Amino acid sequence: MAASRPGGRGRRRLRPHLDPMGDRRLVLPDELETGVAHGRERFETALAAGPRDGARIQDEETLVALAEAAVEGIGEVPYGSNAVFLVQLAAPDPHDPGQPMRAVYKPARGERPLWDFPRRTLYLREAATYLVDAALDLGHVPPTTLRDGPVGPGSMQLFVHASDRNPSTTQAERLEAQLKDVAMLDALVNNADRKRSHLMVTAETRIAAIDNALTFLPYPRQRTALISLGGTALPASTAARVRALNADETRMTALHERLSRLLSAREVDAFEGRVRELAEDPTYPSLDDWDGRPFEWW
Ligand SMILES: Nc1ncnc2c1ncn2[C@@H]1O[C@H](COP(=O)(O)OP(=O)(O)OP(=O)(O)O)[C@@H](O)[C@H]1O
Ligand SMILES: [Mg+2]
Repeated sequence: MAASRPGGRGRRRLRPHLDPMGDRRLVLPDELETGVAHGRERFETALAAGPRDGARIQDEETLVALAEAAVEGIGEVPYGSNAVFLVQLAAPDPHDPGQPMRAVYKPARGERPLWDFPRRTLYLREAATYLVDAALDLGHVPPTTLRDGPVGPGSMQLFVHASDRNPSTTQAERLEAQLKDVAMLDALVNNADRKRSHLMVTAETRIAAIDNALTFLPYPRQRTALISLGGTALPASTAARVRALNADETRMTALHERLSRLLSAREVDAFEGRVRELAEDPTYPSLDDWDGRPFEWW
């Protein structure tokens, strides 16, 4: 039965996997992980699919290099909550072939335990978010794959070189449109930590969305710097992408298989619910004014 949403505009159907009100039940991390492969076993299964699996065509070579190119240098990135490393690989940078490829490596071993996420699963969520971005053909999540790196299993994401120029008015408009696509992606992956500083602008005037680790909880748990979009309609082209994905059984089945290697069945099921709900009602979730914001420390 349709339920009204407190604070919503008139009567709107409650979307169980998208909207943070209603009788949501916290699922404890242990409960979430029941019946799925753990640790090394899950990593090996996901790795076996290969770096090209689920990639955007234009990202394939980069993903292969991220997964296989020799590591020529490594240094720790300061200020992160988790152990995060910048690595240099024996491959050219895809945007500047005269320069070496750099990547951000987040090993499972360096993850700080969190009360609401199962331990040592954050790096898998980085890769899962890339797969959703790729399935939507967005290109906002930098190529991200898994790798048994210098300190064990982790995620490897292309380093984004941020532009140091202020955008022109036309460029700012283009960026704004891209932000609405990223906000759609965040609603689908249920991003619990979309900080402003993690939406970078590249020299090609593209938004790059980094740090996608706190994603895919099976109950509404979005926190985002883009909170002001809550309750507004997705732009027509953004909504069309979600509808097209939802209606495409082949794409959804392939995505199901890929995500099931990285996440629990419950999380994949909730993700599919969010795709369905956002396709049927293309409105950004209205989040709590306090609880719906990320912690921006700097
Ligand atoms: N793909 C990338 N390209 C460029 N810089 C990156 C990339 N990924 C991460 N970084 C840099 O590394 C820092 C730490 O990474 P990230 O934020 O993903 O880790 P975290 O442990 O989740 O930290 P936080 O506490 O900031 O959420 C980022 O603030 C950013 O400066
Ligand atoms: Mg983070």
